[in-house]
Amino acid sequence: MLKKKDKYVVAVVGATGAVGNEMIATLEERNFPVDTLRLFASERSEGKTLEFHDKPVNVEILTDKVFDGIDIALFSAGGDRSLEFAPAAAKAGCVVVDNSSAWRMDPNVPLVVPEVNPYDLDWHKGIIANPNCSTIQMVVVLKPIHVAARIKRVIVTTFQSVSGTGKKAMDELMQQTGALLNFQDITPTVYPHQIAFNCLPHIDQFMDDGYTKEEIKMVNETTKILGDDTVKVSATTVRVPVFRGHSESLNIETEKHISADEVRAVLSAADGVLVYDAPDKNIYPLQTDCAGKDDVYAGRIREDNTIENGINMWISADNLRKGAALNAVQIAEELIRRN
Ligand SMILES: NC(=O)c1ccc[n+]([C@@H]2O[C@H](COP(=O)([O-])OP(=O)(O)OC[C@H]3O[C@@H](n4cnc5c(N)ncnc54)[C@H](OP(=O)(O)O)[C@@H]3O)[C@@H](O)[C@H]2O)c1
Repeated sequence: MLKKKDKYVVAVVGATGAVGNEMIATLEERNFPVDTLRLFASERSEGKTLEFHDKPVNVEILTDKVFDGIDIALFSAGGDRSLEFAPAAAKAGCVVVDNSSAWRMDPNVPLVVPEVNPYDLDWHKGIIANPNCSTIQMVVVLKPIHVAARIKRVIVTTFQSVSGTGKKAMDELMQQTGALLNFQDITPTVYPHQIAFNCLPHIDQFMDDGYTKEEIKMVNETTKILGDDTVKVSATTVRVPVFRGHSESLNIETEKHISADEVRAVLSAADGVLVYDAPDKNIYPLQTDCAGKDDVYAGRIREDNTIENGINMWISADNLRKGAALNAVQIAEELIRRN
C-alpha cells in the first residue's frame, strides 16, 4: 500500500525509451509531488543523464536490489523486465504501475483507466497494470455510452502510429521516408515490410485463429476494464506511417437507442474526452491535432442506419500520453487521492 506523504520517491523504469521520456515530461508538467526521481534503464544507458525540472538526473542500471525506499515505480521497459522486476519492487513496498502487457490479464492485478474504473485501484496488491494504448483511448469513449445505452458489440479498426512500437520504429519510418524520396533502397528491420508510404494490417504476433495479439488484447482488456464480459469486441489493428497518435474507427451497437446528438452530449460531459465534431468546418479528430494533448478526441459521430441501435465514430489520442505515460501518472495521482 502507498503510504501517505507530501512528496514521493518515484522511479521511472525504462526512462530512456519513448514512453519513459514521456513519463518524465508528464510528471514534470503535472507537478506530481516528487521528492526524488530515480531513473533506470539497461547497461546500454550507463553514464547517461536526463533532465527533470531543469536538473540532470543520472540513469541507473536496473537490478532487483534498487527498489528499497522507492514509493512508486512507473515501469515501461518491456514485458520481460516487468515479469522479472515488478514482484521484487512490490515486495520492497513499492507500488508498481506497469505499462507492459505482462500483468494486464492477471486476476490479482487491476487494469485501470482512471476515468473508467478508478475503484479497481482499491484492491491492488502492489502491481497495477496500465492497459494497451489502443484499449485506453477506446474505453474512455465507450464507458459513458455503455452507462447511457448499454453496449452490446463494438467493431473497431485501428490506425496506430509507429511510436507505439518504440524509438527504433520512429527512426525506421524517418530513415525509410528519406531514403525512398531519394530513390534509394530500404531494408525493413523493425517491421516485416516497408512502413513508409504503407499500412500494415499486422500488430504483434499472429495467433492460430488469424487474429493478432494486439487485437486479442483489445477484446480482453475492454471487458476487464468495463467489468462486463457481455460486451463483444471485434478488432482489426493496423500500423500506419504516422509518428505519433493513434486513430480508431468505432462501430458501436447498443441495447437502448441513443442518437448521435445524445452521444455528443454524453461524451461532452465525460472526463478525458473532447468532442471534436464539426464536419461542415472540416473539424474531426486527427493524429496531428491530438499529439501532445491529454484528451481522447471524438468526432464523425453519426447513427449507423444499417442496424436498429448503432453509432459510428472516429477517435484519436496521443498513444505516448493517454495511451501510456499520462494514464500511468493519472493512476499514481488517483492512488494518492484515494489514500
Ligand atoms: N510506445 C507506446 O505507445 C506504448 C504504449 C503502451 C505501452 N507501451 C509499453 O511500454 C514499454 C516500453 O515501450 P517504449 O515504446 O518506450 O520502448 P522503447 O522506446 O524501445 O524503450 C525501451 C526502454 O526499456 C529499457 N530497457 C530495455 N531492456 C532493458 C533491460 N534489460 N533492463 C533495463 N531497461 C531495459 C530501455 O533502456 P535502454 O535505452 O538502456 O535500452 C528503454 O529505456 C513496452 O513494454 C511497451 O509495450 C508502449
